[in-house]
Amino acid sequence: MESLFTHLLAETRAVHDATPPLREFADWPEDLVFEQPVPQGIPALPTIEAMAGKGALYAALAAVCPHASWVQTYSEAEVGRHFLDHYGHIELFGPAGIFRTQACRAFIGYWGPGLFYPMHDHEAEEIYLVLTGRCLFEAEGDAPADLGPGGVKFHRSGQSHAMTMGDEGMLALCLWRGAGLADNAKLNAPPASS
Ligand SMILES: [Fe+2]
Repeated sequence: MESLFTHLLAETRAVHDATPPLREFADWPEDLVFEQPVPQGIPALPTIEAMAGKGALYAALAAVCPHASWVQTYSEAEVGRHFLDHYGHIELFGPAGIFRTQACRAFIGYWGPGLFYPMHDHEAEEIYLVLTGRCLFEAEGDAPADLGPGGVKFHRSGQSHAMTMGDEGMLALCLWRGAGLADNAKLNAPPASS
């Protein structure tokens, strides 16, 4: 079991090491300790598993899918049922990760076709790498960025950002660093209605 996760970790490290903006954002943590996850599924799991043929990272991800603890940090009241049926992530490493470390945090997340992830923020700094699909990133103070595979988007501490997925949805690798590392992102309050 641990070997499946170790394999995913190695494939993710290969992507990290081959992507200069990710290398510059955070060194690969050397203090990782495996913590057996309690399996938790999400409705989008079959879609993620079906990506296995796309390459080594996807095959490694598909192999851990049934054994990983898939996370949704939002409620139906916040984002609606459709969103919850088409999104989720694993924390590969981090304070609550499959591999524990306090140095930085790595998520692999999926958002389905056309999904809109509303404005949200968090104290930790963040960098996204699009693995599959496309996403329009909109962040306070930045020009909108429509990114496909290999595209990266950095978010400053506390910078509000929203994401609109393309027709394929998006699978992404996301790293966090700095203060607030163990927090969850929070949706921005909607404008008060008059
Ligand atoms: Fe974020």
